[in-house]
Parts: sequence; C-alpha cells; structure tokens
Amino acid sequence: MSAFPFIDQAIGLATLECVRGCTFDDFILSPQCSVLPRRDPSSIDLSCRLTTGITLKRPIVSANMDTVTRAPMAIVQAEEGGIGIIDRGFRPGDIGPQVREVEIVKRTQHGVIRDPYHIEPSATLAEAAAMMSRSRVGTLVVTEPDGRLRGLLTERDIRFVGPSGATVEERMTPVDRLVVHRGQLSPADAERVMVERKIKKLPLVDDRGLLIGLVTARDLIRQRRMPFATRDDHGRLRVGAAIGATGDYLERAGELIRAGVDVIVIDIAHGHSVVMERAMGEFRKRFGDFQMIAGNVATAAGVRFLLDHGADAIKVGIGPGGGCTTRMTTSFGVPQVQALMQCRLAVGDSGVPIVADGGIKRHGAIAEALVFGGDTTMLGSAFAGTEEAPGEVVHKSVVLPESQKTVKVPFKVLRGMASLEAIRDRLDVEDADKVELEALGAEGMEISVPARGSARTIVRDMLKHLVSSISYGGASSLTELRTLFWKDPKTYLIKLSASSRRESYER
Ligand code: XMP
Repeated sequence: MSAFPFIDQAIGLATLECVRGCTFDDFILSPQCSVLPRRDPSSIDLSCRLTTGITLKRPIVSANMDTVTRAPMAIVQAEEGGIGIIDRGFRPGDIGPQVREVEIVKRTQHGVIRDPYHIEPSATLAEAAAMMSRSRVGTLVVTEPDGRLRGLLTERDIRFVGPSGATVEERMTPVDRLVVHRGQLSPADAERVMVERKIKKLPLVDDRGLLIGLVTARDLIRQRRMPFATRDDHGRLRVGAAIGATGDYLERAGELIRAGVDVIVIDIAHGHSVVMERAMGEFRKRFGDFQMIAGNVATAAGVRFLLDHGADAIKVGIGPGGGCTTRMTTSFGVPQVQALMQCRLAVGDSGVPIVADGGIKRHGAIAEALVFGGDTTMLGSAFAGTEEAPGEVVHKSVVLPESQKTVKVPFKVLRGMASLEAIRDRLDVEDADKVELEALGAEGMEISVPARGSARTIVRDMLKHLVSSISYGGASSLTELRTLFWKDPKTYLIKLSASSRRESYER
C-alpha cells in the first residue's frame, strides 16, 4: 500500500537522462484532472516506509543535526506522523546525553508505560520532588527494592509539605487503596477499566505483585487525539538516533537500543566507503537485524554497496543541504533530483526504502522528492529557528529596507554538522584555532535563522501543500501520485528555462 511503485526500466532510464544535472527548482509538474473532493490531509493516505520494518503515516523526517533535532523536535515530528532523528553531535565517549534525549521521547506519550519512574517508600519527599522535576512526571510509583508495588505518590501529595524530612511512605496512596490490574492489558482494555472504576492511573503488577507497568488517562487521551502519530507496539512515540562509523559508535548504538530507540542511522558524509562497510558489518554482528538506515550516498553504485551490506533504508543526498558546503569545498556531489532518481532505479525491487535527505527549500519540493525517488523526506533547515529546535534565541539588530529603521529581530542558529562550530563542540576543542579546525575538513557552515513558531505548524502546512500537490497531480493518495507519474513521466515533467524558473520560484 505505501511502497514505492515499480518503475519500468526503459521509462526509468529515459527519465533519468532528462533529469541529469538537475535539482528541484529545475522542474515543475504539469497539472492533471483532479479527483479529490477535498484537500484534507486527515482523509488522504500519505503513508510511506521509513525502513523495511517501520511505516510512517506522514513522509517527514527531521534531520539529525544538533540545531534541529533533540527530544522536543522528535516528539512533535512523531506526534504529527513522521519521526525525528536525534543527532550524534555529542562529544565522543559522552553517550548519556544522547540516550537521555531518546528516553524523553520514549516516555513522553505512552499507551502502557513499561518502566515507570519509581521510588522507594523510605525515600524523603525532597528526593521525590527532585525526581519529579528531573523526569518531568507528576506521578511516581512507589516500590520496594525488589519491585513490589507499595503505592502511588503524586505532585498533589507533596504540595505544601515543607522540608520536614517526611518520607514517601507517609504521603503516598498505599496499594490497598488503589485499583491495580494483574497482568498486561491493551490500551483499549485499560481505558475500559479506568472508565468503570473512575480512576486516572492504573498500575500493572505480575502474579507476585511486582510492578510491570502503569497506564495513565492522560496518555490514553493524547493517543486518541493524535491518530497519525508514529508509535511503537507499546504505544510509545518512535524516535531514531544517529551514530558515526568510528570511535564509540557501537557502544553508543548499544546504549541507544537499550534506551528504546526505534532505528539507528549510521550517518557519515560519504557513505560509500570502506569505513561504512566495516561499521555496517560490526553493527550487524553486534545488533542482528535491528533497523538501521545507512548513508549518505548519491549514486547507483553507492546504493548497491549499502544494499549489499544490509541497510534497512538508504539516506540519499551528497551536498544539497542548507547548511552544507561539501560541493563548494570538494567539487563532489550529485544534484538532488538526479541523485534521487538514479538511487531509486538502483534500489529496484529490493524493497529497501530511500530517505531523500536535504535540499528542500520550499514545500513544493517535498512532492518532487517523494515522486522522483524518496520514500520519505528528511529536512533540516526547514525546521531551524522553530521553538522545538535546540539553541538559544539571540536578538540581532536588523535595518528595515523600507524605513531604514533598526529593529531587534530574534534569531536561532542553524549549522551544518560538519561546520567548524559543530566540529569544535563535538570534539571539545574549545582552544583550537580556525586553521587547525579547517584541517579537520569542515564541510558545513553556521547561519542565523529568524526565530519562528512551532515546528508543528510547519509540518501541518507541509502536509496541506503535499495534499494539494496530490490533487493537482490527479491522484487520491501519495502512492497513486507516484504510480501515475511513473506510468508516463512526460505528462508531468516540465523542465524550466531560466525565465520560467524565475516566474515559478522567485518571489
Ligand atoms: P536541509 O537542506 O534540509 O538539509 O537543511 C539537511 C541535511 O543536510 C546535511 N548536512 C550537511 N551536509 N555538511 C554537509 O555536507 C554539513 O555540515 C551538513 N550538515 C547537515 C544532512 O544530510 C542533513 O540531513
């Protein structure tokens, strides 16, 4: 249903010739007879495959960049039906911070919380308050050291209690006054119990009374409000995390997997390399068939190489990114539309999806990326400057062109992951000078992006525009748009002249 359609070899090769050397702004698509009565993203199938084992309801992935995706961004993306990939821009050996970002996402919205925050009855209320504030949860499950359930402690129980040294046991609601369920149960059954017994929290225990989970009404309500959210089998939001191909990458992957990450992205600038070959081999040896995306590549040979080494999805894009200078500094890369198309043809009927990574500067390019070859799209700069993007807001003076008045405008920083600034932070080399850092091979830059609202609004706008593209394309779903396009690309594809490009995309 959500798979990329079969492409006839002769049609594919002829179309590839037509897009050689081209990128998104070199084309526009010819409108077809529309069949959609309404352009409503909630009623149009936009589902797609992120990897061989993970399906998304929306084809949007936020990039693993340290100025784009940490837990707040990943949460919004998963709630809106896509997924966020936590970047690997943490210092080597310092695995904890990246793991914590994954844990925050996995604990954000649950069906059944498998490992709820818990505290011992003998702990002080001050310790309980500290745990609540650290974990940002308002209810702690009280358990003995062996895991036996003793009660629940909520924020309300400790409100207005001074620093008296009182213990959790004194303020908790004890287990004999709680409704407790023995064994596992589905979110739907949990909801039934909660409605019947008029409760908001339902702890789960095994036959011996040991805690095995917690269900909260808040989580169930949020689940229902977000029908497109990307969830794992336990109802938790899905999240990915990036690792490199050298150094601590295997240890990092192990910790991330233990924390519940859903997919690992082995992400290096040039994925068609012996370094990648070794990393993928070691990854498979250590973690078996755990879902793994590998990249980046931009050629057919690069795709075949990653397929041979067991990628569950392939990230395509060398040099199109907004914060990227690879092409300028090396003169290597492939224009993104050509890259997507040749990689799509190389993937063939392997069933391995493509993540179209980078170069999407306007919403219309999302439809192009998804038709030309991407199963999903990965975006970085499109989400920079949003509330959920990491980093401080700084105010800069800007001169208004009309009035020549100077005003303070809020900005956030977007930086390429191979920029001097990102490398400096990652390697913890505060004192290194620019020349030393240049020697490390910077292929990215830092830019200021005006601070704007929530990434949620941006995703929703993108989806509305994608649905409009589907409507203009005469299709009723994303998969159908791809199928119609690849049946006869000539009916859609218009190559732009310099002046028609100006007419189309310059405003
Ligand atoms: P957009 O265009 O959405 O692209 O901002 C996001 C993608 O850009 C890539 N990226 C880089 N590429 N040097 C590069 O060559 C860099 O410093 C850099 N930082 C990010 C990356 O693939 C990301 O997903």
